[in-house]
Amino acid sequence: MKKLILSAFTLAMLFSCSNDESTSAATQNSGAHRGCASHEVLERQLSDDPKLAERMANFEIEAEKFIQQGRIVNGVLEIPVVFNVLYRTSAENITQAQLQSQIDVLNKDFTATNSDYNSSNPYNSVRGGLNIRFVLDAIYRKSTTKTSWGTTDAMKKSTQGGINPTSPTTKLNYWVCTIGGGILGYAQFPGGASATDGVAIDSKYTGTTGTVVYPFNLGRTATHEVGHWMNLRHIWGDATCGNDLVTDTPSHNAANYGVPAVGHRSTCSGTPLEMYMNYMDYTDDRGMYMFSSGQASRMAAVFGSTGPRASFR
Ligand code: ARG
Ligand code: ZN
Ligand code: CA
Repeated sequence: MKKLILSAFTLAMLFSCSNDESTSAATQNSGAHRGCASHEVLERQLSDDPKLAERMANFEIEAEKFIQQGRIVNGVLEIPVVFNVLYRTSAENITQAQLQSQIDVLNKDFTATNSDYNSSNPYNSVRGGLNIRFVLDAIYRKSTTKTSWGTTDAMKKSTQGGINPTSPTTKLNYWVCTIGGGILGYAQFPGGASATDGVAIDSKYTGTTGTVVYPFNLGRTATHEVGHWMNLRHIWGDATCGNDLVTDTPSHNAANYGVPAVGHRSTCSGTPLEMYMNYMDYTDDRGMYMFSSGQASRMAAVFGSTGPRASFR
C-alpha cells in the first residue's frame, strides 16, 4: 500500500514538473538529435490536456495493483501469500526465512516436484500436481498477550486482537499463531466469507527451519490446509469408509496417524490399499508426499472462470 501511494505521488510530481518545462524542452530538442519523439509528444499533450496526467497516474495505480494480484504468468497461476504473524513470545515471531521455507514446500508439493516422493509408491501412476506458484507477498506482525487463539477465527479480526486479512479475494492469507488444543492448523473452504478466508497454522508447524517441531517439521500442515482451501476433503471422507468426492482415491476406514506400515489396507468395500501417503490424510509429515490426479483436478476447478476462487486468476 505504501508503495502504491508513493508511486502515485512520484508520478504527480513528475508530471507537474514536466508541465512547466515542456515548452522549452521541446524547443531545445526540435531537430537537434535523432531519437524517438514519444516523450516530447507526451509532454506537449500533457501541457495541452490538463486531465491527461491524472488519467495516466490512475492507470499506474491500476497497473501496480494488477502486478501485485494473483495472476496467470506463462500458464502458471501465481498465488500471492500474505503472512499474518501473531506472537506473544519471541519464538512465536518466526523469521522471514522460516516463512519462505513454507512457501518453498508449497511450491514443491503442489507441483509434484517434492524430492521425497517415493518412486516405489504403489500409487505412483495417479500422482498429480497443479501449474501453480506461491509467492511471498507481505508479512504483517502483531504482538499479543493471548497464549492460544482457538478455532473461532479470532486471529483474523483486529477487533479481537487479531489481524484482518489483506485482499482475501486475490491473496491467500496465512495466519501464523498458536491455536492450541492439539490443533496444528485449519482452513476455510471455498465459498465462505472473505473476511475469514485463508488458513491458520501454528508457528511450530510452519516451514522446515527455525522453530519447527518433529514430526510436523516438513511444512505439510500448510500443504494439507491449503488443500482444504482449494476444496479438498479428508481422504477418509470424515466418516467410516466415507467419500472424499475424488474417484481415484481409495476409501479409508478412518484417519491414519504416524507413518502406516507399507501395504496397509482398509476394511471398506473391496479392501483397497489405503493411500496413506496422501497429503489429505493425518500421517506425520515424512509419511505424506502426494496428491492424486483427481485431487489436482478438483483443486484446479476452484480457479475456473466460474469457480469460487476465479478472482485469483
Ligand atoms: N488440521 C490437521 C490437524 O490439526 C492438520 C494435519 C496436518 N498433518 C500433518 N502431517 N502436518 O491435525
Ligand atoms: Zn484437515
Ligand atoms: Ca475417493
